[in-house]
Amino acid sequence: MKKVLSGIQPSGKLTLGNYIGAIKNFVTLQDDYACNFMVVDLHAITVPQEPAALTEQSEAVAALYIAAGIDPNKANVYLQSHVMQHAQLGWLLTTLTSMGELERMTQFKDKSAGKESVGAGLFVYPALMAADILVYNADLVPVGEDQKQHLELTRDLAGRFNHRYGDYFTIPEPYIPEVGARIMSLDDASIKMSKSNPNPGSYIALLDEPDVIRKKISRATTDSGREVKFDPENKPEVSNLITIYSQCAGLTIEEVEKRYEGQMYGPFKKDLAEAVVSVIEPLQQRYREIRESGELRQILRQGAERASEMAEKTLQDVQRLMGFVVK
Ligand code: AMP
Ligand code: TRP
Repeated sequence: MKKVLSGIQPSGKLTLGNYIGAIKNFVTLQDDYACNFMVVDLHAITVPQEPAALTEQSEAVAALYIAAGIDPNKANVYLQSHVMQHAQLGWLLTTLTSMGELERMTQFKDKSAGKESVGAGLFVYPALMAADILVYNADLVPVGEDQKQHLELTRDLAGRFNHRYGDYFTIPEPYIPEVGARIMSLDDASIKMSKSNPNPGSYIALLDEPDVIRKKISRATTDSGREVKFDPENKPEVSNLITIYSQCAGLTIEEVEKRYEGQMYGPFKKDLAEAVVSVIEPLQQRYREIRESGELRQILRQGAERASEMAEKTLQDVQRLMGFVVK
């Protein structure tokens, strides 16, 4: 069975962008692939995290995975820090990575821009991400558009290792959805929807109350036109809302356009809000059940145990190939 790996950082609240760009696809893939879905807590600390918030958010993201439909009996759900081999392989891959490659990463440039002091962890972040993927020899990595460059680097590092030490790593493929790989902010369609945006009106958090979601959508920026038409270049705001609608209602872009032909933005937005709420409300219900059940720690333990087995084998193989004296 082919292998899938992905992860989400437990830094702040997850948004509808995370759901549409990533988690929704995790759920689809779990039936046909051997899947590992992590909460990447080691990546989260590349920017300062308050310890209590890190604990809470890590559990929240894991519970959201399951609430969204990931079945922990089909896929491994766990915390990155519980599988030591990620960090160990991460170090080995760091030594194969050049400064120039890391300097070119747009996520690093964005996150370090204007900062007086930038942590070294933020800089070497992509080598750890490569290790996350390669430690399972994953074939496919479901991510949103913004992770494409990190995936490219992972492929380069795998190729470099194979060239230097012998053909070992699978070169992973990104799995980026055709629609919804880049959900934009509700107040500014030139930037992606992000949990780190200081304006909460710009994003829909997966744990926002339904009425808050309705309000945010009714206030979302549109344009001075009146056509519900998908045209990202000339109508970026409306096109973003159509994308969200299509993903939440299970319709194609064309079907959404057709449904609102000759109608104004008002009714479209109203229905959009209900489409989003109809996805999020049951998810929140399951989320609360999981958090209250106390099962989460056991699920995470079991996921980490299964993942560690695979990861340990890879790490030993890699160490042997590189010339380390294996225990
Ligand atoms: P992060 O929140 O940066 O850990 O991202 C977790 C996953 O969600 C990654 O696969 C991202 O590419 C994806 N993602 C984050 N924001 C968006 C967005 N606005 N639209 C689509 N996918 C997103
Ligand atoms: N860098 C990813 C993000 O910010 C998170 C991540 C870490 C990841 N390791 C990964 C994604 C491995 C896919 C595979 O979204």
